[in-house]
Order: sequence, then C-alpha cells, then structure tokens
Amino acid sequence: MIEADAFEVRIARWPEDSLAIREVREAVFVVEQRVAAKLEWDGLDEECTHALALTADGIPVGTGRLAPDGKIGRMAVLREYRGRGIGEAILKCLLDVVRDRNLPRCYLHSQTHALGFYTRHGFVAHGPEFDEADIPHREMVLEADA
Ligand SMILES: CC(C)(COP(=O)(O)OP(=O)(O)OC[C@H]1O[C@@H](n2cnc3c(N)ncnc32)[C@H](O)[C@@H]1OP(=O)(O)O)[C@@H](O)C(=O)NCCC(=O)NCCS
Repeated sequence: MIEADAFEVRIARWPEDSLAIREVREAVFVVEQRVAAKLEWDGLDEECTHALALTADGIPVGTGRLAPDGKIGRMAVLREYRGRGIGEAILKCLLDVVRDRNLPRCYLHSQTHALGFYTRHGFVAHGPEFDEADIPHREMVLEADA
C-alpha cells in the first residue's frame, strides 16, 4: 500500500472494486477524452490486476491496470486530483507487481502528452507514433534490468 499525501493507493479487489474503477475511467476516458465506450470496456479487465487510488474518505480518484503479458494501461486520475503524485503512486504500485512476478519487461501505449510522465520512471519510447481511440500514442518499454 502506498500513501500519497492523504491518498491510499492499493491493489484493487475484483470484482468488489470494479464499480469504483469504472467510475474513474468513465469520467476520464469516456467523458473527458471522448473515447468510445466500446473501446474503453474492452473485456480484458477481469484478467488484469488493477490499482485503485482512494481519498481518506474512500472516494475513488485514480486507477491503472496491468495485463498478464506485462502491459500497463488505463492509467487515469480524475482531473481535479492531478499533479499531486497520485498517478506516480499508481504506476509504482503496478511496477511492484511486475517485480513480484519477475516479469522481464513491461510496456504500455502512452498518449504522447504523457511521454514525460513515463520517461521519468524509466520507460523508453519505441517506434513511430500511432493512433488508438483517435488519440496519438507511442509504445514505451521498461526492461527489468534497466
Ligand atoms: C497521466 C495521469 C494519470 C497522471 O496522473 P497525475 O496524478 O496527474 O500524475 P502525478 O501527479 O503523479 O504526476 C507526476 C508528474 O508527471 C507530470 N505529468 C502528469 N501528467 C502529465 C501529462 N499529461 N503531461 C506531462 N506531464 C504530466 C506532472 O506534472 C508531475 O510532474 P511534477 O511532479 O514535476 O509536477 C493523469 O494526467 C491523467 O489521468 N490524464 C488523463 C488520462 C491519460 O492521459 N492517461 C494516460 C494514458 S497513457
């Protein structure tokens, strides 16, 4: 469990926490970023490990997920809670799982505006920019021995 100021970031329980996770992703991706709901709810959530950020009052404010193949994704913090280290705490929580599982590498598709956020945690961008849900992305990789 990671404390970021008055926030708790922990591995989510599934399916108990699925509504809280859904609420955050609906606000960030579907409403704010206008990602099509059918792309957002891709059917892979059940097989993923999820991190969940909560305020001291238990309000869900951020989330992210790790797929069995080492793909990190769906990193989201409610707009009004950004810039306080919650995204970083979520990423660290998921990277702890990557280490615990001895995965040799993990990777993600970063929206290009967030490249700096992931670079700070050791991810390296590879290959060309591409569109996903009509948003420009690049693949980024973090090798275990990096
Ligand atoms: C990306 C996201 C999850 C980061 O969450 P956050 O809680 O704001 O992150 P943190 O507060 O831990 O940010 C850590 C640092 O990264 C920077 N940062 C965060 N988001 C950034 C962005 N989009 N572009 C550039 N820098 C960013 C912050 O300024 C902060 O830097 P600082 O500590 O020097 O001030 C959040 O911005 C978000 O939900 N964005 C909308 C959804 C999205 O784009 N998800 C990523 C898909 S790849």
